[in-house]
Amino acid sequence: MKLVEQIKQPILEEMELFESKFRESMATKVPLLNRITHYIIRRKGKQMRPMFVFLVAKMVSNGKFEERTYRGASIIELIHTATLVHDDVVDDSNRRRGFFSINALWKNKIAVLVGDFLLSKGLLLSIDNNDFDILKLISVAVREMSEGELLQIEKARKLDITEDIYFEIIRQKTATLIAACCGIGAASVGSPVEEVEKMRLFGELIGIAFQIKDDLFDYTDAKIGKPTGIDIKEQKMTLPLIYALNNCSDKDKKWLINSVKNHNKNKQRVKEVIAFVKEKGGIEYTTIRMKEYQSKALEILEIYPSSPYKDSLLNMVNYVIERKI
Ligand code: IPE
Ligand code: IPE
Ligand code: MG
Ligand code: MG
Repeated sequence: MKLVEQIKQPILEEMELFESKFRESMATKVPLLNRITHYIIRRKGKQMRPMFVFLVAKMVSNGKFEERTYRGASIIELIHTATLVHDDVVDDSNRRRGFFSINALWKNKIAVLVGDFLLSKGLLLSIDNNDFDILKLISVAVREMSEGELLQIEKARKLDITEDIYFEIIRQKTATLIAACCGIGAASVGSPVEEVEKMRLFGELIGIAFQIKDDLFDYTDAKIGKPTGIDIKEQKMTLPLIYALNNCSDKDKKWLINSVKNHNKNKQRVKEVIAFVKEKGGIEYTTIRMKEYQSKALEILEIYPSSPYKDSLLNMVNYVIERKI
């Protein structure tokens, strides 16, 4: 059995029900919007975030489950989808999940509005059910994601990113939503605040590892359903490049910065930059840092008694850094 299938075993029923609830959560009477949401549902992603919600909920409560848990998962996946639709506009990316992105098919104008629609649907799902604790966790994540993306743009313009700022960006733009998944999973089954906070931290650590993995993909030719090699084109300086910058001669540093600043759309030059980063050990260093976050996340799970849910969460942590897409 594939690792993902193994992970899903203890939450098979929940994942199935989730799919129909998620579909319903996007309902609209506007024909154009309806066509687009259908398109989105057909090209679903890995659904890792709902899996985190369900597995955490079940691990902390010994298998308990609430209607609220489903809602939490739907809200998160709606917000996640909204941010991907917007992210592809921001990154000018034409592929997502193995097919055309929304902006590639319907243009930016429509993609921006679709993202807003999905976001509002997510927020309303909480409000209509008085899930204000969940709404709070989600709203913090949405704010941080926007701040993270904007900080990234600011750094892409100035090209003055440091390691600390890189970690702050990925914590905000990606880890905060995975933190919300794990916090919501616990909150949805009535965990005390300290446990919600502990699970949030677990999600944050694994979310950082998750984004580092995503940034590593960008340095490969792997078929991951979205473009690779576009971070440099978008002047996004991620950890492998930051490491190379900090560990080369002044002359090489000037060449690197000049490449990213003025030759970022030149495919051949981007290839040379990637080769340079690899030669300087940027990939190895980044992998080590990613594994540090993985270990810290695993430590948090140590106090929980063994259960199929915990086993799946442990596998999930490994999947995040070993995945092929
Ligand atoms: C993509 O997330 C966005 C990042 C935070 C890197 P996923 O890789 O979970 O996207 P899907 O939902 O599986 O397509
Ligand atoms: C993910 O950042 C950020 C969000 C989830 C908004 P990326 O821009 O690296 O994500 P991909 O690679 O397009 O999925
Ligand atoms: Mg992107
Ligand atoms: Mg990326």
